[in-house]
Amino acid sequence: MSGIIVLGSQWGDEGKGKLIDVFSESADVVIRSQGGANAGHTLVVDEQKIVLHLIPSGILHEKIKCIISAGVVLDLDSILQEIDQLKGHGYLKDDKQLAISEACTVLLPYHKAIDAARESTAKNKIGTTCRGIGPAYEDRASRRALVFGDLYRDEDIREKLAHAIEEKNFLLTKFYNQDPINLDELYDRTMFAAERLEPYRCRDASLTVHKYLKSGKKVLFEGAQGSLLDILHGTYPYVTSSSTLAGSACTGTGFGPGSVEKVVGITKAYTTRVGEGPFPTELNNEVGELIQKQGGEFGATTGRTRRCGWLDLVALRYSIRINGITNIALTKLDVFSGMDQIGVCTSYKLKGETIKDMPMSATDLHQAEPVVEWLPGWDESLQDAKTLADLPSNARNYIQFIGNEVGTPIDVISIGPGRHQTLWIKPLFQ
Ligand code: IMP
Repeated sequence: MSGIIVLGSQWGDEGKGKLIDVFSESADVVIRSQGGANAGHTLVVDEQKIVLHLIPSGILHEKIKCIISAGVVLDLDSILQEIDQLKGHGYLKDDKQLAISEACTVLLPYHKAIDAARESTAKNKIGTTCRGIGPAYEDRASRRALVFGDLYRDEDIREKLAHAIEEKNFLLTKFYNQDPINLDELYDRTMFAAERLEPYRCRDASLTVHKYLKSGKKVLFEGAQGSLLDILHGTYPYVTSSSTLAGSACTGTGFGPGSVEKVVGITKAYTTRVGEGPFPTELNNEVGELIQKQGGEFGATTGRTRRCGWLDLVALRYSIRINGITNIALTKLDVFSGMDQIGVCTSYKLKGETIKDMPMSATDLHQAEPVVEWLPGWDESLQDAKTLADLPSNARNYIQFIGNEVGTPIDVISIGPGRHQTLWIKPLFQ
């Protein structure tokens, strides 16, 4: 068993990209198994900023094989841009480093057009990234999606696209009052992408991963978004359209849970959320603004300002339970430097009761009031710490408090965007 699942334990943007990049140093393979270009992983290497949406962050290590597996909705335009960006920075020299499963759902411009049209006319907005994620997964579920492998089979893609846009254009023009999608343009763009992506085509990603796992290779599964955005167990309807939980690494790639050794929950030292939906610990005040500013909390995909609040242990315990998180990696602890005191939500008050378990409906969660405990802050900058012992005692207390409250070991602390700003308490692979 050498599969480790790394996922976000909150509402996304926990700093997974940086940590996957760091964890990749000791891995052989990194796999992305759900979501699409709604994800945005910002990596800072040698002062170069690289933003990835679909390609796993392990790609920056030449020896790492990166796989995009069946559960992903593959935005052709986005992946071509990412490949160009990587090659422009001197990465992805060998095309064999990246493999894209033929079973991925192809995400096309009409998915994005419908997503954007729905968001702009909706009474109850979700605040999606407008990257076409919902409409693409809808097509998969209704069995009308084009899959990546279709682009290379002897099928009439033009006819398939024509058939698809017949319905989409009806919706776009008649219901949403938008421009229709042009078939010639769509076909040319799709075939151009297919030709450029051919070197990355992988006929059976599940079998490839199985062989890696069987031969004892170290395999990382990189989650996208966060657990509370899961389509079934998140704060529905304010969620994304894929399963973001640990189990989706198995279903999205096609392997059994018996091969999973650890589930690492990446957890930000505070909480953020983009888009709409309940957020009990949100700080609509100058403290929230300070965290936002110090933490650079602006979306990597849409540039939107992230809502900020204290760490929510009710939500974190829930996330640990529904994912089977075995270890925590705590990120962005450095953002608290200069704060007198730090709040942590340990329970909620709901309808006159104190509760420690996450309420299941978004309506209840909207009404939940956080019960906040206060811990002393610190002035020092953490960014140059080399070991846990270099941290101010109040920062160490904070880490210990969280670990004790949730009963799950904290193995890694991230104290800045750089690779070296990572404090290891326990190695990832034994
Ligand atoms: P969608 O995934 O674009 O449909 O957006 C649905 C919800 O998930 C919105 O609230 C988005 O802001 C949120 N979301 C989607 N992807 C991410 C992500 O990578 N990080 C944080 N929030 C995300």
